[in-house]
Amino acid sequence: MTAIGIHDIAIATGHHVLELDDLAERLGVDPAKYHVGIGQDAFSVPAPDEDIVTMGAAAAKEVIDRHGVDGIRTVLFATESGVDQSKAAGVFVHGLLGLPQSVRVVELKQACYGGTAAVQLALGIIARSPQERVLVIAADVARYDVDTAAEPTQGAGAAALLISADPDLIEIEPAAGVFTADVDDFWRPNDRSTALVDGRLSVTAYVDAFVGAWDDLVAQGGPGYEDIARWVHHQPFTKMAIKAHRKLAQHVGQPFDESELAVGFTYNKQTGNTYTASIWIALAALLDLDDELDGQRLAMFSYGSGSVGELLTGIVRAGYRTHRREGRVRAVLDARVPLTVDAYRELHAAGAATSEDTDRPRVTTAPYRFAGVRGGARRYEPTAQD
Ligand code: CAA
Repeated sequence: MTAIGIHDIAIATGHHVLELDDLAERLGVDPAKYHVGIGQDAFSVPAPDEDIVTMGAAAAKEVIDRHGVDGIRTVLFATESGVDQSKAAGVFVHGLLGLPQSVRVVELKQACYGGTAAVQLALGIIARSPQERVLVIAADVARYDVDTAAEPTQGAGAAALLISADPDLIEIEPAAGVFTADVDDFWRPNDRSTALVDGRLSVTAYVDAFVGAWDDLVAQGGPGYEDIARWVHHQPFTKMAIKAHRKLAQHVGQPFDESELAVGFTYNKQTGNTYTASIWIALAALLDLDDELDGQRLAMFSYGSGSVGELLTGIVRAGYRTHRREGRVRAVLDARVPLTVDAYRELHAAGAATSEDTDRPRVTTAPYRFAGVRGGARRYEPTAQD
């Protein structure tokens, strides 16, 4: 059977960064609570002329620049933080990138899980038409109310994946473990721009979904625990992955050394929670920074509150190291402009979606910007002026 899987990954994030040391100082919290207790160092904050479309388009542009558009007939955009109740964010990206008209575009939603659903749909499309390639974009701005326990676990970022036959990076294996439970751990009603979350419940719901997805993977004939070389997790905050993995290891009766997960935390500790993009940013870090993955099996756990979990496995392709992007990712993270806590909170207060006519100031240096709203419709444009 032809191998199908992830051919390329690119990531993008917001223009600004808030260091959690600064938030800790403002809130009178021991910084170790953030660095050690929740396992985060900073979070990205979008500029006023950035959103999921501009970040998603920036990541997708990198993929298209490397591979062109041949064979791309489907664009799947996954997000929790959609900019319109009707129009798919991917249609804006399609326009910005000048993709051909013979393309279907749709948006997917199930909290942080949607990107994995998009990858599954893409695998199915390519199984039927191996000559096609599918562009999957996962982008989110994680927004909680200020002065809540969840405030330090915000973030912003995007991942673009090219799914194809004979992939350069990872062959996804056919068996997957899935788990759904109706639970109110995190949700965002239509009239809110910040999520409502029961943080404690979200931790137990995540763990239940992880263990449940594992049991289902085993029932589907998936690999044994000892056959998995590395684990990649959705990371709302990196400590969450450690907590969940500890439970799974107990469940299967295996030892667990939490330092095994550290490499996959490298980028997410800096971006904060990126919801749908989080697992793919974690995967990008592992592929960029772990030298020992040729032919190894990875397990990838995706979780979306509400809740849906899915556990995928894949085999890393020999030669993955020749496609590394660490320098590019470091440059993107290092280029972020630091914010004071006051400036971040001002941006946060102005961050709610609006259909009022507005012009956005020119701030971002990313390839595309959100110019504002005209006649109720969002307008996007390339950032570089002719
Ligand atoms: N030094 C070291 N560690 C310290 C410390 C210090 N000085 N002070 C506290 N800590 C530790 C605590 O012991 C605790 O560790 P354990 O969990 O291992 O016991 C940890 O820091 C956190 O402390 P608290 O539990 O007191 O923290 P909190 O109540 O302020 O909030 C939180 C923590 C509940 C995770 C909160 O940040 C939150 O609600 N976050 C958002 C919820 C979330 O992200 N859920 C995950 C799934 S949802 C998701 O990803 C969304 C989706 O599907 C779209």
